Amino acid sequence: MSDWVSFYDFKHSVIYVNARHRDVHYRTIAQDIRAYVPSPTAQVLDYGCGEATSSELIAEAAGQLVLVEAAPNVRASLTLRYAGHPKIAVIASEQTAALPKASFDLIVMHSVAQYMTAGELERLLGIFHALLKPEGLFILGDIVPPHFAAPAAALALLRFGARNGFFWAAVGGLLRIFVSDYLRLKNKFGLSHYTEEAMLKKLAAAGFAAKRAPRNIGHNQRRMTFLCRLALTAR
Ligand SMILES: C[S@@+](CC[C@H](N)C(=O)[O-])C[C@H]1O[C@@H](n2cnc3c(N)ncnc32)[C@H](O)[C@@H]1O
Repeated sequence: MSDWVSFYDFKHSVIYVNARHRDVHYRTIAQDIRAYVPSPTAQVLDYGCGEATSSELIAEAAGQLVLVEAAPNVRASLTLRYAGHPKIAVIASEQTAALPKASFDLIVMHSVAQYMTAGELERLLGIFHALLKPEGLFILGDIVPPHFAAPAAALALLRFGARNGFFWAAVGGLLRIFVSDYLRLKNKFGLSHYTEEAMLKKLAAAGFAAKRAPRNIGHNQRRMTFLCRLALTAR
């Protein structure tokens, strides 16, 4: 398990300032992802889904939703949450490559790439490329641009808190993150940042025809979402 995966491997991550923040966060993301589900029969994969407390909103609009989570405790809690849900399956990240090739209409990876090395991300892009149907869509969300990422994230969280009734909890949560392992891990392992140009180049090298979406999934509009189709030359 990578150190970032261990950091996230709590039933409730320190990243969410309280249950309300966590639930509003996941509801916002699920609503945004749902808007990209192309049909009621669509096969959807959400890689690095985290606590995913609103995934039924995505599943409602799709044929099947596969949630992929690397952190074992988070995965156990997801498995319990969605046990018996007819459209939702939960798997570990190492099972992803063995999924049937060309079988997904929509693959989403949101707010995960920053925790991966460039090499890890490249390997995963290769897997997604193989799993996507020829007309499928891969969404790479919450890509963090270089410069001022931390103050921008803090400000976005405070604004999100103010809009959703957890402003003071967000202030407290930021202080808690400050004394948590987050900064130690950030200093030791870093977070991967990409400019729009660098990410478009990386996606093209992986065989995707990509463009930046007009808005990012979720609440932080300084971060970027990319919409990626299989490039014709790569088929
Ligand atoms: C910020 S959470 C994102 C959760 C959800 N997708 C969202 O947007 O809220 C980061 C997720 O990335 C996962 N993660 C971190 N490093 C990873 C890695 N190297 N491989 C796979 N998953 C990783 C963690 O387990 C965690 O669930």
